[in-house]
Amino acid sequence: EKGGFPHFMLKEIFEEPEVLRNALAGRIKNGKAHLPEMESVQSRIKSARNIQIVACGTSYHAGLVLKRFLEDHASISVEIDVASEFRYRNIHIDNSTVVIAISQSGETADTLEGIRKVKAQGGTVVAVTNVVGSTLARESDVVVYLNAGPEIGVAATKTYVSQLAVLYIIGAYFSQIRQDDDRVIQIINELEGMPTVFESTLSTINESIVQLAKEYYQYRHFMYIGRGYGYPTAMEGALKLKEISYIHASAYQAGELKHGPIALLDKEFPVFAIVPDDGLKAKVLSNIMETRARNARVVAICTEGDQEIGRIVNSRIEVPRVSEVLYPLVMSPYLQLFAYHAAVLRGNDPDKPRNLAKSVTVE
Ligand code: M6R
Repeated sequence: EKGGFPHFMLKEIFEEPEVLRNALAGRIKNGKAHLPEMESVQSRIKSARNIQIVACGTSYHAGLVLKRFLEDHASISVEIDVASEFRYRNIHIDNSTVVIAISQSGETADTLEGIRKVKAQGGTVVAVTNVVGSTLARESDVVVYLNAGPEIGVAATKTYVSQLAVLYIIGAYFSQIRQDDDRVIQIINELEGMPTVFESTLSTINESIVQLAKEYYQYRHFMYIGRGYGYPTAMEGALKLKEISYIHASAYQAGELKHGPIALLDKEFPVFAIVPDDGLKAKVLSNIMETRARNARVVAICTEGDQEIGRIVNSRIEVPRVSEVLYPLVMSPYLQLFAYHAAVLRGNDPDKPRNLAKSVTVE
């Protein structure tokens, strides 16, 4: 049932090209986002004063990407909160509130309580989930499914990739309704090519990531840093590493280092820098220099052909060039594989990390 792979997690990472195809199937028409399931809430999206996103864990990280996408391309301000905080906050909700709830399982207790609160106060809930007939699907106004198939590994991998793909489509749909931003046409166009990009990536990167993991798996700490769209990637990379390898990993917005976290760094505390060639690259480069000055080893994940970065970091992973919003997607399998191999080298079972359950149905 593992299809020749030693673990479900690895099998599921290698399913990502197909999962992307399924997430996008039928959802792009004439270069535009096509989501008939959202039609009933179209007018509420048009008139919404702001959008609220609610999710936990990896789903929250996918939500962070959507927040930025909507702000950049649908001219609307977006709030996001982890569900365990959202449910106890006194935020103003009325019938102009649109909430996007993201949950792979559709059974996460905090997320469900969050949306119940929204519904009770007259708000609209758009659910993004993988599980047909889940509690979240039943209790929301509309549902957009991931169609990713069951995920057995406790660490979310293929479903994160699938969430990002679906959220880009949702972001484009909001943009079409509210703003009509030409740049979105280009993003959708690139998104359509992503299954093929993933196919070629996954067929070539595994061995070099095994080597990288061998260099770093014995460290006790890791600090992931990024800015802009790179920050959710830093958070997700750190979560994956700590969840299955049990290496302590934290994530910071790279500009925050100087406000405290940089005090931690020395030669025993490596940094994983997320440095796509986007509008914030120069800023991240100067943050990397700050970490090098503390003797930290630096692994950078960057855009292919970036010579500048090679000169200042210890190790480098290159990803294909894409529009800046798509870097969180294109970088995902690299970070997942790094965590996977680090976990295996440390003798852990990545499919069943200690203390964790696949779906968190209690508060
Ligand atoms: O089913 P959900 O998406 O609501 O689950 C949320 C989190 O529990 C989940 O993403 C968790 O963080 C993953 N195990 C991380 O790999």
